[in-house]
This record gives sequence, structure tokens and C-alpha cells, in this order.
Amino acid sequence: MATGGSSDSLQHLFFPQTSLERFTFTNPSLPGGPISLQCLPADEGQVSVIGKVLWPAATALAHFLIEHQYFVRGKRVAELGCGIGLVGIAARRLGAAHVLLTDGDAAVVALARENAINDVVECERLIWGEGVPEQWRDAFDVVLAADVIYGVDGSVCGPLIDTVSRLVKTDGTGRVLVAAHRLRFDVHADVFVGAVRGAGLRQKEHLVLDERGREYQDGRIHLFVLGVGD
Ligand SMILES: C[S@@+](CC[C@H](N)C(=O)[O-])C[C@H]1O[C@@H](n2cnc3c(N)ncnc32)[C@H](O)[C@@H]1O
Repeated sequence: MATGGSSDSLQHLFFPQTSLERFTFTNPSLPGGPISLQCLPADEGQVSVIGKVLWPAATALAHFLIEHQYFVRGKRVAELGCGIGLVGIAARRLGAAHVLLTDGDAAVVALARENAINDVVECERLIWGEGVPEQWRDAFDVVLAADVIYGVDGSVCGPLIDTVSRLVKTDGTGRVLVAAHRLRFDVHADVFVGAVRGAGLRQKEHLVLDERGREYQDGRIHLFVLGVGD
């Protein structure tokens, strides 16, 4: 259960926790206890704080991974658009062998690094569509991304999926988990599907989750599990 703000109201399903400086993620099955995260207080519409707060797809994906630990246990995991770092930190706690947190915003990477200081994860800047360092190519069993599809025209989908496809292992075992809030995703669904196909990825599963990461047909979080090949 996410605590620290108006978690019972509907608002947190659509917008970040707007007034928090710290956010505490709790789930009784999470090894190591609650994850306490430094945020920056956000005012709606302030684009510069987008990565410095926590978004509902991230909490849903973290809860989902706790219930489906096989996705990350013993795996090499990368997260794109990590924001304050919850999902990747949770993956590490769940037994991932190595976690790389990335974001395109240097200040966000610094915040994630601070939040992950006790969890031994790597934090680096990575901008989608701008090339991937040699040592990260084809190097990750799992690539995670939460609430990274937004904007006016879906133009993020191409660069995002291009980068995903360069990081994930192409031997057929690699998996990509993209969690997206309906409110922001649905208008870009066709662009997303086109980008996935264009990069040679295949949709393995499409689940609809509630904010606790449980399958729920009226839930507001899409979770796409993608892979390479059939
Ligand atoms: C809505 S926030 C989601 C943050 C976090 N995953 C969460 O769910 O709380 C989107 C994140 O994507 C990052 N981002 C946006 N465009 C990007 C790009 N072109 N390359 C890399 N990161 C980008 C932003 O800096 C931000 O941290």
C-alpha cells in the first residue's frame, strides 16, 4: 500500500502525489521493508517536475512485481524513465542480480541515485532514441518502464521502443514490461502498437491492473509484456 498522501482519493490514480516531499511505498511481501523515496513537491502543469514525483503506474508495477517475482529474480534489469526510482529499487529488493536505473533528466537521475543509495543499483542518464552504450546492448533480461507514454502526439513511443529493443536480450528470453496509465496511454495506443511492431517486438501479454497491481478489468493501468520473436 502506498502511504504518505491522499492515497484513498481518486486523485492519486491520475496525478502524482502533488504535495509530498517523501513518499513511502509499503507492501508486506516486499523484502527489506518500506521504500522511502525523496520526491520534489509538484504543481500540476510544471513539466520540470515530471520525473521528480511518483506516478500511479509505478506503484502498480512495483506491487505487480512483488506478486510475480519471477520476472526479476536473478535477472539483469534496466528501467527507463525511472523517475524517483521506485520500480527498479523494488526489483533489486526482489532479487534482481543487477539493476540499472535510467532517466533522460540528469536531476532526476541524481534523485534516483540518492533514493537507491542503500540498494546497490546503478543510475545513469539515458535519453530514448539517442543511442545505447555498447555494454548495455542486448544485455538485459528485463526492461521496465512505468508511465512513460504521455504527451500530445505519442511521438515518445518510437524513440522509447527503439531504446528498449536495443537493451533487451534478443535471444527470445528477454522481456519488456511497460505499465501505462489509461488516461495518458489510450490516445496513443495505435502509435505504441506500431512502434512495438516496427522494432520487431511482440506483445506476449496485455493485463489491466488496479493501482495495487492486481488484475482488474476496470483497472486504470495497462501492463504490456513484450518479447522478441514468437
Ligand atoms: C511521468 S514520469 C514517470 C516516472 C516514473 N517512471 C514513475 O512512474 O513514477 C516520466 C519520466 O520519463 C522521463 N523521460 C521523458 N522523456 C524522456 C526521454 N526522451 N528520454 C529519457 N527519459 C525521458 C522523464 O524525465 C520522467 O522521469
